Amino acid sequence: MNRKRVAILISGRGSNMAALIAAAKASDYPAEIIGVISNTPSAAGLETARAEGLATAVIRLKDHSDKTAADAAISARLREWQVDLVCLAGFMRLLGPEFCTAWQGRVLNIHPALLPEFPGLDTHARALAAGVAEHGCTVHFVTAGMDEGPIVGQARVPVLAGDTPETLAARVLAEEHRLYADCLAKVARGEIAWTGQ
Ligand code: GRF
Repeated sequence: MNRKRVAILISGRGSNMAALIAAAKASDYPAEIIGVISNTPSAAGLETARAEGLATAVIRLKDHSDKTAADAAISARLREWQVDLVCLAGFMRLLGPEFCTAWQGRVLNIHPALLPEFPGLDTHARALAAGVAEHGCTVHFVTAGMDEGPIVGQARVPVLAGDTPETLAARVLAEEHRLYADCLAKVARGEIAWTGQ
């Protein structure tokens, strides 16, 4: 099997990253995780990645002249690793149009809401405030717009009486881990593709 080479971009805890690493350990999984890039050295997920023996890199905006230059440094590292696909997993910086065009159809993101509902931050508190009966998560191809781009898959959870943003987040997160591995597999196998704007 020709497994796709995948890099994961993180900024924090890295639980989705860990779920992808775990899924890719199955011999029939169509992707392998090559390395992890963080935009901050304090991301806890970096330790997890190192413990898994993966290559890691920290590429900080403040070490570059501007966002385009930082994006170019990320691109250069991805090319060096000969990456086929990129998974954003709690990566908290918007990638610019040059990056998104260069990697179009090869970058996925996971968002903790049922897009197009609740793009951006604080999705769980906003879902509760809106009184929705269902909430969930979305994996989508990345464009330069925040939490936009064609949807690869979604998972739904019920909103329960007494939910707080934290209890709802935990219910969604369990689904995120399952959904992301499933969607990456579909894209890696070529079952779902996005080639145009
Ligand atoms: C997840 O909820 C993800 O959907 C969002 O940021 C959070 C990252 O969590 N984009 P983790 O770092 O994967 O644990």
